Amino acid sequence: MSQPHTLATEFPFIARHPDLVYLDSAATTQKPQVVLDALMHTYQNDYANVHRGAHQLSERATSAYEATRHQLMRFLNVPKPEQVIFTHGTTESINMVAKGLLKQVQPNDLILVDQTAHHANLVPWQVLAREAELQLKTIPLDTQGCIDIAAFERLLQHKPKIVALSHVSNVLGSCNDVCKLTQLAHQYGAWVLVDGAQAVGHFSVDISAINCDYYVFSSHKMYGPSGVGVLTGKQDALERLEPLLTGGEMVVQVSYESSRYQDLPHRLEAGTPPIAEVIAFNAALSWLMQKDRAQLFAQEQNLIRTMRQALSEIEGIELYGASDHPVGVIAFNLTGHHHYDVTALLDQHGILMRSGHHCAMPLLQSLGIEGCCRLSIGLYTQPEDMQKTIEIIQQVKVFLDELE
Ligand SMILES: Cc1ncc(COP(=O)(O)O)c(C=O)c1O
Repeated sequence: MSQPHTLATEFPFIARHPDLVYLDSAATTQKPQVVLDALMHTYQNDYANVHRGAHQLSERATSAYEATRHQLMRFLNVPKPEQVIFTHGTTESINMVAKGLLKQVQPNDLILVDQTAHHANLVPWQVLAREAELQLKTIPLDTQGCIDIAAFERLLQHKPKIVALSHVSNVLGSCNDVCKLTQLAHQYGAWVLVDGAQAVGHFSVDISAINCDYYVFSSHKMYGPSGVGVLTGKQDALERLEPLLTGGEMVVQVSYESSRYQDLPHRLEAGTPPIAEVIAFNAALSWLMQKDRAQLFAQEQNLIRTMRQALSEIEGIELYGASDHPVGVIAFNLTGHHHYDVTALLDQHGILMRSGHHCAMPLLQSLGIEGCCRLSIGLYTQPEDMQKTIEIIQQVKVFLDELE
């Protein structure tokens, strides 16, 4: 297995830009050489449309495309290929579930969404609630920024139809015990969707163990190409969904009057997919699977904990979220200074992080802020990057303080 300290060298972007510290991996990760090679190789050798050609190139593309589905089964411990649906990203996956359940809900049914929800796991439920006259309630958090289990159990007494959870918050880095939460929700008969966009790139996820109805994530946040997402879960839960998109590829029989749909997974995969990107996603999955992921996660956690400790020693810094076990991200503000000014000045020094509401406006409102800076790490982030970042944040703080 490759040693963790060598990983940065596998990323051409990192190797070519020693002047930049990329701390925006929660938004999207950089790609290792093997993924770039797979993308180029596919376009140069194996590129044709999938599932529809009678020629050898299409057959080759189809078999490489389906190999990614099989790799995902192993990666996630999903029993059958029909339980892995390719989408264009987490946002589309959640929309497919929320819109796909329209005919399955009754007025006044309840949807529970956790307080850290990314807009992608909130707005589609708001739309469903509006269209089907449902109720929508939020699940409060505990002091660590995780779902408050006691409050969740109280809400479950109202027998929600749907529970939408974040596995890991993209702002707080808090990680929910989604196995336990799913088990509780199922006791009350709810269908559970887990947004794993910020989880799968950091640690191994076992879908069978979580036992949720739907699990969603994006390839681009886990070292794979952009434009590819996954919707997975229980077969009956996926079969329950009315397809969001209809058209070519998802039908078996079509007349001018009507059509008959395919079975899973094709039923939920209308149109031409991002062919080469799905194929290259397999390279990212294989790359991750060759590593000791538990060790890499422990190392990431160490880096984040050390960074958080160092940040907490800066006078006037406000840190948000889970102090115990944050996954991948640290959100903060320098008291008295606007987060845009802080990140803009950091950017001038080559430290690339994000500021704003991070697509979680209601969460930030509940924290009493309208925005914050967020740094987020990937497998290429080095301890030296963190040291440099701390030094520059200190310099930026002195500079901004003197301007006052
Ligand atoms: C927790 C979470 N959910 C959903 C999304 C949306 O992902 P995508 O833009 O790939 O659809 C993000 C992206 O930042 C996220 O962090």
